[in-house]
Amino acid sequence: LEQIAYVNGAFVPLSEAKVSVLDRGFLFADGIYEVAAVLDGKLIDNASHLARLQRSVGEISLALPESLDRIQEIQKELVKRNSLVNGMVYLEVTRGADSGRDFAFPKADVKPTLIMFTSVKDIVNAPSAKTGIGVITVPDIRWARRDIKSVALLAQVLAKQAAAEANAGEAWMIEDGKVTEGGSSSCFILTQDDVIVTRQNGSEILPGCTRKAVVKLAEERQLRVEERAFSVEEALAAKEAFITSATVFVQAVVSIDGKKVGNGKPGPMTDRLREIYVDFARATAV
Ligand code: PDD
Repeated sequence: LEQIAYVNGAFVPLSEAKVSVLDRGFLFADGIYEVAAVLDGKLIDNASHLARLQRSVGEISLALPESLDRIQEIQKELVKRNSLVNGMVYLEVTRGADSGRDFAFPKADVKPTLIMFTSVKDIVNAPSAKTGIGVITVPDIRWARRDIKSVALLAQVLAKQAAAEANAGEAWMIEDGKVTEGGSSSCFILTQDDVIVTRQNGSEILPGCTRKAVVKLAEERQLRVEERAFSVEEALAAKEAFITSATVFVQAVVSIDGKKVGNGKPGPMTDRLREIYVDFARATAV
């Protein structure tokens, strides 16, 4: 059975889901995206993703073609039409297709493009959750507004390709001697004195929805959390390290550039936070 995608108001087979070569998402990466996880057919932490979508489009003066409520309805409809149990919904909105290639925003009444598709992934039972992943470090060569969830992901494509070639599960990007974030994830460590450390939000990183939920869940349980930058040296001296994102939830990191973190196995705090997050996800799914 062919997958169904959503394109500008229509549900169509994925192979027929197309946009113009003049689409500004294609020509200029002039667009914003979101990825929300699906567990047991329900959207995870979607209000947080939609809030970030609204913020991102606002930062680039792009008007959403549909209300957030309607976007959530479409996400749900797409999950249903694909009989999706576990996986994610990808959504992208671009500044649409003008009549040519002009850098400045279209003057005419050009409608933004809105597309969505789903993919299958059993996030909860992913084998990497048990084994942990290795990461490599790469220089962070991205633009200065990483807080905007822009589809301009070339730096991350190169970072994650380098990771794949090194048989690593993620790339940690480094700037001024400190970890900014993963290619598509937020980075955490657990220090020797049991402080959970993750970089503070700002224009240097994407404000991760999973990061935000994990910080809140940890604080509610009186775990100590510090939002500050940390170096790779500090991560290698830590008890544990992990990443968070909509597509992995909480994922242990057991080595960095081939050097062990802790004892080289997923640690108890990472496992605990993963369980806490999965419980939260199930309890708040829509
Ligand atoms: N990426 N940092 C970056 C650069 C990301 O691309 C992502 C997510 C995150 C984690 O954010 P969240 O917890 O809201 O998923 C942090 C998505 C999953 C992706 O590009 O596939």
